[in-house]
Amino acid sequence: MIITVPVTRYVTPLREGGSMPGIVEAGDLGTYVCKFRGAGQGLRVLVAEVIVGELARRIGLATPRLVALELAADIARYEADEEVQDLLNASLGLNLGVDFLPGSFGYDGQNETDAELAAKVVWLDALTANVDRSWRNPNLLVWHGDLWVIDHGASLYFHHAWGGGITDPARFAAQPWDSSDHVLLERASDLVKTDVELSNLVDEAMLTDVVAEVPDVWLEPVPGAEDPADLRAAYVRFLTARLATRQWLPGGTS
Ligand SMILES: Nc1ncnc2c1ncn2[C@@H]1O[C@H](COP(=O)(O)OP(=O)(O)O)[C@@H](O)[C@H]1O
Ligand SMILES: [Mg+2]
Repeated sequence: MIITVPVTRYVTPLREGGSMPGIVEAGDLGTYVCKFRGAGQGLRVLVAEVIVGELARRIGLATPRLVALELAADIARYEADEEVQDLLNASLGLNLGVDFLPGSFGYDGQNETDAELAAKVVWLDALTANVDRSWRNPNLLVWHGDLWVIDHGASLYFHHAWGGGITDPARFAAQPWDSSDHVLLERASDLVKTDVELSNLVDEAMLTDVVAEVPDVWLEPVPGAEDPADLRAAYVRFLTARLATRQWLPGGTS
């Protein structure tokens, strides 16, 4: 599981983000972008952040280190801004911490992007059905000249339909992915070649490791999947089923 560190100070809201993320300091002296459990989009977006972020890391993409941020009531108590105080109070317990990259800036297409790196990002987004990497909203940072992927909460959308119980992985497996909007599509090298490389790397064992990084308390029970182990197994089933097809890959076959 990703490690847990306590929040020691709320610093400032990050106004750009739709999910009201904030900058916080933590007990390990780190500075993190905090994605709050009480931000209204629910815990599943935090689950998607960890699964897809950790998968990104394992396929060799740069992505900030993730931690679970333990937020205690006394941090909220001394917050002057009422809106922030409400958010903090709604977020006591474990939140997602994304290691803050100081001095990074948003990708705007000006930088030269390595074509194989671009293809890896497209492949990851296609596999996980990430819809949040458009020109309007690239969710890519440039830091020390390198490209970093962030913000994977909008991927794995299938889990939003789990309220009545785990759905059918075959449907997600067969679902195409619309690449037309993707910020790196034009820059990507041969996706079929990247697919060969990455599908040799990503397997059920890796997916099991990735899903094991999610904190138990974010894996809310649904009918038929009562404990965290059932939910972890469901995520592995969905992603493994999708890996066995290629409708999701732009230009892919079968
Ligand atoms: N680790 C980070 N380091 C520096 N800036 C970040 C980091 N994570 C996010 N940001 C900044 O905050 C903005 C919002 O974060 P993001 O993860 O995209 O949240 P949202 O889900 O609200 O879009 C990003 O577009 C980026 O400008
Ligand atoms: Mg974003």
